[in-house]
Amino acid sequence: MDIGKIIRDRRSVFTNQFSGERISDDLVWEWLDNANWAPNHYHTEPWRFNVFTGAGLHRLFDQLAMQYQTSAGDQFNQAKLDKYEARKSQVSHAIAIVVHHSNKPNLPPVEETAAVACAVQNLWLSVSAHEGVGGYWSTGKLVFEPAFHNFLKLADNEHCLGLFYLGCLKPDGIKPQSKRQPIADKVTWINE
Ligand SMILES: Cc1cc2nc3c(=O)[nH]c(=O)nc-3n(C[C@H](O)[C@H](O)[C@H](O)COP(=O)(O)O)c2cc1C
Repeated sequence: MDIGKIIRDRRSVFTNQFSGERISDDLVWEWLDNANWAPNHYHTEPWRFNVFTGAGLHRLFDQLAMQYQTSAGDQFNQAKLDKYEARKSQVSHAIAIVVHHSNKPNLPPVEETAAVACAVQNLWLSVSAHEGVGGYWSTGKLVFEPAFHNFLKLADNEHCLGLFYLGCLKPDGIKPQSKRQPIADKVTWINE
């Protein structure tokens, strides 16, 4: 398939479009293996993935619900809590995206964060190239909280960059739309 079409057809597909059916673990391994081929400076391969599925998803969403209840204060909204509960039966796999900093001299941490984003794009394109499945990168303040860091049992040199939700699509699911402003608005050529 044309690379331009694969890139443009990649979409964020949200959890309310998921049927709850489970994707095979083998397929998830294949996508993660594609993620593993991302470019990275000094070959530090700084991406780490914690994959939640089955009963693991209950642990994950109970943790997020608990953190939400602890931190929401005046902003508390029951609908958010209901959303975490619903996700237990929508999501097939939730992948915690983690950067593992090597602390190599001459390697600014941002380069390793950038490499992890490249790995996630490989994963995302791999998912998009497959019929009947979808997913997206989800952040939100809870995944950056120390409580979530501890839940994932991350080391001091590791940081969670969000969750990648994966699911099988409902047969009558809405195909998401997306748009971009023209590339010409974002490019400067220096040729003299
Ligand atoms: C680093 C990162 C974090 C994101 N976090 C969220 C999020 O928390 N919630 C959400 O709805 N979408 C999130 N997204 C997905 C974007 O909303 C989505 O990419 C954007 O709307 C464009 O849609 P498209 O991916 O279908 O082209 C995130 C994307 C990236 C790259």
